[in-house]
Amino acid sequence: MKSIVILISGRGSNMESLLQAVADGALPVRVAAVLANRPDAKGLATATAAGVATRVVDHKLFASREAFDAALAAAIDSFSPDLVVLAGFMRILSDGFVGHFAGRLINIHPSLLPAFPGLHTHQRALDEGVRVHGCTVHFVTPALDHGPIIVQAAVPVVDGDDAARLAARVLAQEHRVYPLAVRWFAEGRLQLCDGKVVCAAPQDGGSALISPGGV
Ligand code: GRF
Repeated sequence: MKSIVILISGRGSNMESLLQAVADGALPVRVAAVLANRPDAKGLATATAAGVATRVVDHKLFASREAFDAALAAAIDSFSPDLVVLAGFMRILSDGFVGHFAGRLINIHPSLLPAFPGLHTHQRALDEGVRVHGCTVHFVTPALDHGPIIVQAAVPVVDGDDAARLAARVLAQEHRVYPLAVRWFAEGRLQLCDGKVVCAAPQDGGSALISPGGV
């Protein structure tokens, strides 16, 4: 069975959805550890309660991004994971770090990339007046919030939405697609072809999913 390490910075609801999927038997991976860059990340207690090992690599204790990234990579490598899952990990990662984990580092972003990379995605979507918003799971490349897309889920923007309501609608889809994407990886169904993800037979996506397999 493949193993994963999950990186968080705060609440950890996406991490929780992954742990729940594992507990439900819907996600055939071993969660080797949850790592956080903040000692006060709320998700650490959730992981501990689920019996998962946790580590903190506090970015404030390092003089440079490179030094922090080297310590983080060493902590991850100590668990020898097949896949590193960024789940609300709020640090920009150096090219060296991304290169070290190339092809086995994925992220979830709360927009339909390439629209709205960066922060405050829900407010920006409202400000632009888009009618469709959503989330994206992608392989990580050195460019921020960029990289081969594994799966996206779309939600409508409804009249009267504010950022919090829209965020909650998107988050519900995040909790649905991230375990799915990790499962596809675990089952060896994801392949990169000319910089794009090809996913073999994703039959189980559902109508809100826009996936490489054309669900
Ligand atoms: C999610 O919206 C995720 O897409 C973004 O940060 C948020 C993290 O939330 N990268 P949580 O910590 O998983 O609850």
